[in-house]
Amino acid sequence: MKLKALIASGGRGTRLRPITHTQNKHLIPIANKPILHYAIEAAAMAGITEIAIVTNADSDEVPRAIGDGSKWGVKITYIPQNAPLGLAHVVRIAEPFIAKDNFIFYLGDNMVVGGVKRYVDAFTSSGANCYLTLAKVKDPERFGVPEIKNGAIVKVEEKPKNPKSNYAVAGIYIYDKNIFEAVNNIEPSARGELEISDAHQYLIDHGYKIGFAEITGWWKDTGKPTDLLEANRLILENTEALVEPGVDVDSRSDVAGRVVLQKGCKIINSKVRGPAIIGEGAVIENSYVGPFTSIGSNTHMTNSEVEYSIILKGCKILDAGMRIEGSLLGNDVEIVRTDGKPRVQRFMIGDQSRVEVA
Ligand code: G1P
Repeated sequence: MKLKALIASGGRGTRLRPITHTQNKHLIPIANKPILHYAIEAAAMAGITEIAIVTNADSDEVPRAIGDGSKWGVKITYIPQNAPLGLAHVVRIAEPFIAKDNFIFYLGDNMVVGGVKRYVDAFTSSGANCYLTLAKVKDPERFGVPEIKNGAIVKVEEKPKNPKSNYAVAGIYIYDKNIFEAVNNIEPSARGELEISDAHQYLIDHGYKIGFAEITGWWKDTGKPTDLLEANRLILENTEALVEPGVDVDSRSDVAGRVVLQKGCKIINSKVRGPAIIGEGAVIENSYVGPFTSIGSNTHMTNSEVEYSIILKGCKILDAGMRIEGSLLGNDVEIVRTDGKPRVQRFMIGDQSRVEVA
């Protein structure tokens, strides 16, 4: 039977403000590539060619950024969601697209190493109606949590106060058509959403077969700023060194380890320690870029040091003084030195930003 993919890209990303004031969280780059690309690539690598992406109805940002899918050899259909009514609602409105086919439901802010083909194969051979992927986490109360007895999932609870296991149900689910019976028969939760965990509980209660596997590599739900830095670290960790055309590294510079230098970037009298990625047209001068750092396109750094950070495009970091670490800078952000008196820190920062000073 044919397998389609459904990818969720809605929501407001409130925990990632201020970045998400101007950008959908699924389009925030990890290793200089929008998070959503990873989900599409995973589906394409599993042999899926028909993908629907559910988007916020009031924005065409995702369709504009992603396009029709031809660059991945897939066909992408967009399904607008009028209000954030929950993940089970996302599945509900995708029924006309999915019809009677099996499908993988992929939350666009989840990232998993090694793709999803092995889970698709396991789903197919297990004969399950619903296949869940589980990941061990330290904070299960943030997620959907399974209770496992005698090798079977007997219960799934959404963000429980007293988790019954230390597993999260990851945002990569595989279903047959029976999921529609579930999503059409559950009621909104206390927070007013149709919870995907309630749909899973419905399937359990009605005797459907639930298969599951533990994600053995790594998995990340990129809901919080620290998750983005971790996802960036993990992706860079799995990246090979690459030098694209037009790159200029002068003889005084030292680029070591797995570093991706994208088109036309310039490294002048600087040290870059991989794993790291330097974006198209970026200029790094008299500076240090340390491990697990992504520098966006056309960002300029002079006399500055940055490590374990995500710096988006068009930023200026000039004579920053102290090393920037564990930081997330949006597009066109400037951190510059001024020599004026009095010697002060001067901030021009948008809503819900956060600055830590030492
Ligand atoms: C959602 C689901 C939750 C799941 C998580 C995985 O939570 O409701 O069951 O464990 O995704 O990323 P949310 O990220 O919307 O809080």
